[in-house]
Amino acid sequence: MASIIRESVAVSAPPIIALYRAVRARTMQIVAPLEIEDYVIQTAEYMSPPRWHIGHTSWFFETLLRTYQPGYQTYSEEFLFYFNSYYEGFGARIERPKRGTKSRPTVKATVAYRNHIDEQMLRFLDAIESYSNSETILALVRLGLEHEMQHQELLVYDIKHLLCDQFAAQVQAAPQATVKVEGMAEIEGGLFWLGYGKEVQSPKSKVQSPLNYDFAFDNEKPAHQVFLQDYALDRRLVTNGEYLEFMRDNGYQDFRWWFSEGWEVVNRDHWLGPMYWEFHDGAWMIRDFTGLHPASEKDNEPVSHVSFHEASAFAKWAGKRLPTEAEWEKAATHESRSGERLAFPWGNDEPDTSKANLFENGLWAPAAIGAFPAGESRYNCHQMIGDVWEWTTSDYVPYPGFKSEFDEYNDKWFVNQKVLRGGSFATPQLHIRSTYRNFFHAHERWMVSGFRCAKDL
Ligand SMILES: [Fe+2]
Repeated sequence: MASIIRESVAVSAPPIIALYRAVRARTMQIVAPLEIEDYVIQTAEYMSPPRWHIGHTSWFFETLLRTYQPGYQTYSEEFLFYFNSYYEGFGARIERPKRGTKSRPTVKATVAYRNHIDEQMLRFLDAIESYSNSETILALVRLGLEHEMQHQELLVYDIKHLLCDQFAAQVQAAPQATVKVEGMAEIEGGLFWLGYGKEVQSPKSKVQSPLNYDFAFDNEKPAHQVFLQDYALDRRLVTNGEYLEFMRDNGYQDFRWWFSEGWEVVNRDHWLGPMYWEFHDGAWMIRDFTGLHPASEKDNEPVSHVSFHEASAFAKWAGKRLPTEAEWEKAATHESRSGERLAFPWGNDEPDTSKANLFENGLWAPAAIGAFPAGESRYNCHQMIGDVWEWTTSDYVPYPGFKSEFDEYNDKWFVNQKVLRGGSFATPQLHIRSTYRNFFHAHERWMVSGFRCAKDL
């Protein structure tokens, strides 16, 4: 694997041991309320059984042990086959839609595998300073932990698809809206530095350097200049209430708002509303982890589980458009007066539960618009980090100057997908950055996806 690591990020040993323990433990905390039968079911081709996630995230670390720990013995060839996701370079694997067709390895055997990998990894990390290539290895360990946090978020999506309100999530009380958020921010155009790069961080952020910014995926780099026209961006996410107006105006029945491909999906899959919306006794209801709620009671919450096609159709209906990822990132990172670049909309402090609705808040749902005034950006945009991933109109393609740092991780997905920004209520605090580029296909909506609109000025 050494040959495919082309750039390493400095990570020191002791903090990463604590981080390793914490991240690995959280995966098991997420699945703890599941019954044994829940772990092996695959409810759609795009989701994976929870058992697969807990094994696959361990498999990722086993590939590291197999490469770097002298004398490491492969745990099981069968496990290598079942728990590989899509890595051609790591050999044959089960087809994704078939992950739920096997009852072996059992849940018990998968947990034993996970514990074995943890023992090996912790022993390995204890001795890491004696390795001459420790920097490369530590960068890979951090990548493995970021990978695991991605799977923690996927677990939330997949458990929602599997059980939804039957899952006993430990849901915390939702914060109330304390401010009214309305209108659009008007943002000046010009040259803008897009992407992750320490060279464009302000001197102030260099001093504070949030832990989130010690790591970035290769697809966020290099920082490069793009030109933006003047534009306006919604100060709030599109709400269920606004989206319901679009539905009531026959949005799903009117071809004028849809891309051709989106219109095909609407008709083929008989879409009438977002995923997890149900029509009962003449009223739209939204099912989430806490039950079935009238949509009217959630009209001030961000709409979620909409595809790129639905977001685009709404935007057109509303006389607006989706923002590009550069427009989103400028609104999230730039202070209007000085042009200083900030790590997060609120400044350079790491995320906490007062600034953004992320996994640690324990809400298991988006929060009301105006519930996180402390997370407001310098352009007065709210909830850019957390709540729902925001669709942009940008294609997921490499930035100019892109260099792959890990084969088959990000670089092989640069076709036919759209970029989403900002993280969701299921994203761990440590995992999110303003430069983070998530990506999904235009028709997908089982993830926590919403949007805000933009407009030309
Ligand atoms: Fe993975």
